[in-house]
Amino acid sequence: MTANLQNDCFLRALLREPVERTPVWMMRQAGRYLPEYRRVRRQAGSFMDLCTQPELACEVTLQPLERFRLDAAILFSDILTIPHAMGLGLSFSEGEGPRFAHPLRTAADIQRLAAPDPENELRYVMDAVRLIRRSLNGRVPLIGFSGSPWTLACYMVEGGSSRDYAKVKGLLYDQPQLMHQLLEVLSQAVAAYLNAQIAAGAQTVMLFDTWGGVLSSEDYREFSLGYARRISAALSPEADGRRVPRILFTKGGGQWLSDMADAGYDALGVDWTTPLSVARAAVTERVALQGNLDPVVLYAAPETIRRKVQATLAQFGHGASGHVFNLGHGILPDVDPAHAETMIEAVHEFSPAYHVHG
Ligand code: CP3
Repeated sequence: MTANLQNDCFLRALLREPVERTPVWMMRQAGRYLPEYRRVRRQAGSFMDLCTQPELACEVTLQPLERFRLDAAILFSDILTIPHAMGLGLSFSEGEGPRFAHPLRTAADIQRLAAPDPENELRYVMDAVRLIRRSLNGRVPLIGFSGSPWTLACYMVEGGSSRDYAKVKGLLYDQPQLMHQLLEVLSQAVAAYLNAQIAAGAQTVMLFDTWGGVLSSEDYREFSLGYARRISAALSPEADGRRVPRILFTKGGGQWLSDMADAGYDALGVDWTTPLSVARAAVTERVALQGNLDPVVLYAAPETIRRKVQATLAQFGHGASGHVFNLGHGILPDVDPAHAETMIEAVHEFSPAYHVHG
C-alpha cells in the first residue's frame, strides 16, 4: 500500500532522512476555524456524533487538504474516546469543552476499569482510519493518535477541563499506588488503541501529553514519561514493510526534551516557549522535532506571519533534515483560514533553502 504514497516528505522528515523542503501540517487542522467543518458538525448534531460516523469523520479529515498544501492528514477523532469506551460517558457542551457523566471518584471506580477492545468498543475509530486511508489514496500519510495516560487521567479524574488539576494531583500525592494502577490500565488501553490504528492504516502515530507540563520534573518522569516509554516499547515498529514513526508531544515539556529523546520516539513535538535551536541542542540528533509557531501568530497580519515562519525555520537551522513545521499547539477556533494558508505557503516558499545539499 505504501508503494503508492505520492508525498512521503513528512515520514522522511520524522526519520531525519533527506527532504527537499520542510513538511507542514497543523494540530487541529480539521476544526471550527473552517466554515465547511462547522457545516458538517451542525449536520452531525454533536461532536461525538461526528466522531462516531466514519463517513463524516473522513469528510472533515480531508477538508483541510482540499484547501491547503499540507503534507499529512490527521485522523478526525478525540483523545477522550478511550475514557468514553471505558464507560465514563463523554459529552461536549457548546463553549464548555468535554464533560464526563461518571468521573473517577473512588478507588473502586479505578479498580473496575478495563482496557477496551479497539475493534469492538472503538470500532468506529478503526472504521474511520480504514475509510480515510482508502480515500487518501496515497496523497499524504495518515497520522493516528492517542492521549497519553497522564493526560487521559487528568480528564477522567477532574471530570472535564481544569484550571489547577487539584483533584488529579491530589490523587497522585495522596495515593500514588492508585494513580499508578490507573496509569497502568490506561497504558494498556493506549498501546492497544494505537496498534489497532496502525493495523487499520495509520502510517505514523502521535501521543498527545497535553498536561504533562503541569507536573514537577520528578513527577513528570514517574507519572508521564515512564508510561510514554512503555507504550513506545509496545508499538508495532512497522506496517507494510515501512517504519511507523512515533511522535511524542508534551506541552510545556521543553525542559525535559533530552530525557524524552530516549523514550523510544522518532520525533518530539515542541511548543513555542522553547526555541527550536535550544530543542535541537537538547536532543543531539537523536530525534526529529515538530513545531513550533505560537498559534496566536495566526491572528497577526500576513507579513508578520511570513516573518515568523522564516524565523522558525531559521531557528531549526540549515544542514539537516528532521524538522516538521507545525504550530506549537492546536489552531485556534476563530483564526481566519486565509492566515493558515499564508503560514503554509510561507513554509513552501522559504524552507527549500534550508535543504540544499552539497
Ligand atoms: O488535530 C486534528 O485536526 C484531529 C482531531 C483532534 C481533535 N482533538 C478534534 C477536536 C485531535 C488530535 C484532538 C486531540 C485532543 N482533544 C487533545 C490533545 C491535543 C491538544 O489540543 O492538546 C485534547 C486535550 C482534547 C480534548 C478536547 N477535545 C478538548 C479540551 C476539547 C474542547 C476544546 C474546545 O475548544 O472547545 C475537545 C473537542 C474537540 N476535539 C474539537 C475538535 C475539532 C472541537 C469540538 C467541536 O467541534 O465542537
